[in-house]
Amino acid sequence: MLPSKLVLALNDQFNNELQASHSYTAMAAYFSKKGYHGFANFYLVQAKEEHFHAMKFYEYLVTMDEKPMLQSLSEPKNHYVSAMDVLESSLAQEKEVTSNIYALVTLADELQEHATLSFLDWFIEEQMEEEKMFRDMIARMKHIEEGGEYFLKMDDEFAERKLEG
Ligand code: FEO
Repeated sequence: MLPSKLVLALNDQFNNELQASHSYTAMAAYFSKKGYHGFANFYLVQAKEEHFHAMKFYEYLVTMDEKPMLQSLSEPKNHYVSAMDVLESSLAQEKEVTSNIYALVTLADELQEHATLSFLDWFIEEQMEEEKMFRDMIARMKHIEEGGEYFLKMDDEFAERKLEG
């Protein structure tokens, strides 16, 4: 059993992750309609990842003898003006999730709930990776605007450079 305040916060995050999955599915739909099936696939996989994150909270609550409680989902943003708009919304969403995870960590720390702190470590790492992923995608998109596709090819080539002495 966990302190009820912590159960409520963990349960909210379980639902937040489901909401994130819902939002990414809407982003996938934007790309599908545009015919960008690669981007659509990326976002559908991202939606599945968020569902996987949600289920980690579900399993943790069950492990701690608590009951996951489903909340209603809200309508996600369904209209975007450009791919950049989608990417920037994705990064904003991930930043929001990061601050939710940090708030959970702070609460678990105040309550001296060490198992929960250990459980949340995985999410701290995951949020670092997800924010970086969207920051990099935004940067690459901006580089296309700045220097065309060849600029990105050069960047890929430069990434291969090794120290030769
Ligand atoms: Fe589950 Fe992308 O945060």
